[in-house]
Amino acid sequence: MKRDFLRLWDLSADEIDELIERAIGLKRGEDAQKCPLIGRSIGLLFEKPSTRTRISFEVGIYQLGAQAVYMTPSEIQLGRGETIEDTARILSRYLHAVVIRTFGHDRLVRFSSASDIPVINGLSDSHHPCQALADLMTIKEKKGRIKGIKVAYIGDGNNVANSLVEAAGRMGFSLNIACPEGYEPDADVLEDARDAGGEIIILRDPREAAGRADVIYTDVWVSMGQEAEMEQKKQRFRPYQVNAQLLGCARSDVIVMHCLPAHRDEEITSEVIDGPSSVVFEQAENRLHAQKALLEMILSH
Ligand code: CP
Ligand code: NVA
Repeated sequence: MKRDFLRLWDLSADEIDELIERAIGLKRGEDAQKCPLIGRSIGLLFEKPSTRTRISFEVGIYQLGAQAVYMTPSEIQLGRGETIEDTARILSRYLHAVVIRTFGHDRLVRFSSASDIPVINGLSDSHHPCQALADLMTIKEKKGRIKGIKVAYIGDGNNVANSLVEAAGRMGFSLNIACPEGYEPDADVLEDARDAGGEIIILRDPREAAGRADVIYTDVWVSMGQEAEMEQKKQRFRPYQVNAQLLGCARSDVIVMHCLPAHRDEEITSEVIDGPSSVVFEQAENRLHAQKALLEMILSH
């Protein structure tokens, strides 16, 4: 039975704990000489640009002994109208798993239904679960625990926010989200996470959300594919900038996270992203370790 990772929900809390421990071990150099995925080929089908996701997967796949095959729609027949389902059927016959970065989440679901190989979501318009794994690993490293931590997400209720909401539902940290009205995470994602026991509060005032936070998290206001809304969103989100003044509302040992890439001096000031509270570059490094642990979990048997 193939094992997909399309949303954070696809892993149990125990599996996420195990994966984080393994990722921390891999980061320390554990099993560096072992190549558990030797002889496998893993596709990377990317319909949007990427620095972290693409390179961390390519390098991680190599370190696990497997081969990465990078594809964009314009280089394969998908870009000339071959269906997602036919593409999935064909790639299933060559590859052992595929990481897909795309627009509508339904494209991942369609690919998965027609494929015999595990599908990993490398970002869709609605979810970014690989990012959430690295985020959880970073929180565990920096704060020593995940359960009971207070996270403030300041900004757009986008794919990154949806995956953090699912993470809060799964892992038992509290999540205060500050966003303008109409820019909340998806209602069904919020409902499922709250049903699972997640303590998730939507606020309008970023200072209130940041109050006593252990972690302040933000992301761009305009995600890939939303460029037409840029000017309107920039106006609407201006009060939601993560800056030194906002940090003053949080605990003195607060850490600042951002999935990157950042639009410096829009959603976060350079002073904060380059400042002592920021863990963004280690968070980005953790993509590599967390995804290696994910690939091992999904593919090693
Ligand atoms: N955070 C993240 O997914 O970055 P990339 O878009 O560079 O992959
Ligand atoms: N929300 C951003 C995340 C980029 C990693 C986007 O979708 O563009």
